[in-house]
Amino acid sequence: MPKPILIDTDPGVDDALALILALRSPELSVKAITTVAGNVGVRKCTRNALKILRLMDLPQVPAVAQGASKPLCRRLFTAPEVHGEDGLGGIRWLSPLNRAKVPEHAADVIIRCCRTSAGRLTIVAVGPLTNLALAWKKDPAALRKAGRFITMGGAFRVPGNTGPVAEFNYFVDPEAAHTFLHSGLPITVVPLDVTQQVVLMRKELEYRARRRANLVGKAILDFTRSYMLRHKMTQGFNGGYLHDPLAVAAAIDDSIIETRRTHVDVETTGRFTRGMTVADFRMKARSVDPAVAFKIDRDRFFKLFHERIWL
Ligand code: BDR
Ligand code: CA
Repeated sequence: MPKPILIDTDPGVDDALALILALRSPELSVKAITTVAGNVGVRKCTRNALKILRLMDLPQVPAVAQGASKPLCRRLFTAPEVHGEDGLGGIRWLSPLNRAKVPEHAADVIIRCCRTSAGRLTIVAVGPLTNLALAWKKDPAALRKAGRFITMGGAFRVPGNTGPVAEFNYFVDPEAAHTFLHSGLPITVVPLDVTQQVVLMRKELEYRARRRANLVGKAILDFTRSYMLRHKMTQGFNGGYLHDPLAVAAAIDDSIIETRRTHVDVETTGRFTRGMTVADFRMKARSVDPAVAFKIDRDRFFKLFHERIWL
């Protein structure tokens, strides 16, 4: 039986790839997609999730619920220079599948799915953790009923990507990240330490997309173009990090990542260190601490990714 999952996301170019990977993986059954403000404003994120659903043309469409339009107690910080003003690389020809949108708030959908999951639900959060923190504050008992949480975020032994020490998702809403990582829920953290080991090069993407020549491939070619050019400018390679797809891959096949349980704090007051993940490796980890991924099987990840994306 496929694992039920809920994806909380701020699409986002790599979020869009993560959604495609999840929706094309027979091991998973995507029950709902919830959106959160992050890479762009939440309405644009919702529109982009709905665009991906139209593109995928599925027989059964998961519900999309819009969530927080800003972090718990800060102004929203976005990344249009990375993901485009629209959040999806300026792709023009995709329209949203509006009928998939439900009127409930994302946090309520998270709570409902946790309650009805009989302990099997995996929640993969690939944006700022605002919706998860709101759901946790509102109904902790419901969240304890989920099987597992995976969050893409943090930077432990590598520099940040939003300032010197912070990763984007936790930088945007550090209070939410701190609250959630201290909840004692079964959480796996997929930080930049491992997501920056998975780079999809433009050349390879073009080669694979042209060999398959279908609509999904054409969309991926289009919506990743400026994301990859941005990496060329800032990182020196024409390609893009697959941050969010790696978190989804961990939900599909846990053996892709190797984790270490560790106590994690997220900096909420630092003048220069907002959103920094601070792990105390001297402390003996407790069972309530999150498991942080420090190693991955790159080959296994890419095999899975390419098999699914270019169907
Ligand atoms: C994370 O930030 C976002 O820009 C990406 O979608 C990813 O979730 C990487 O730091
Ligand atoms: Ca994201």
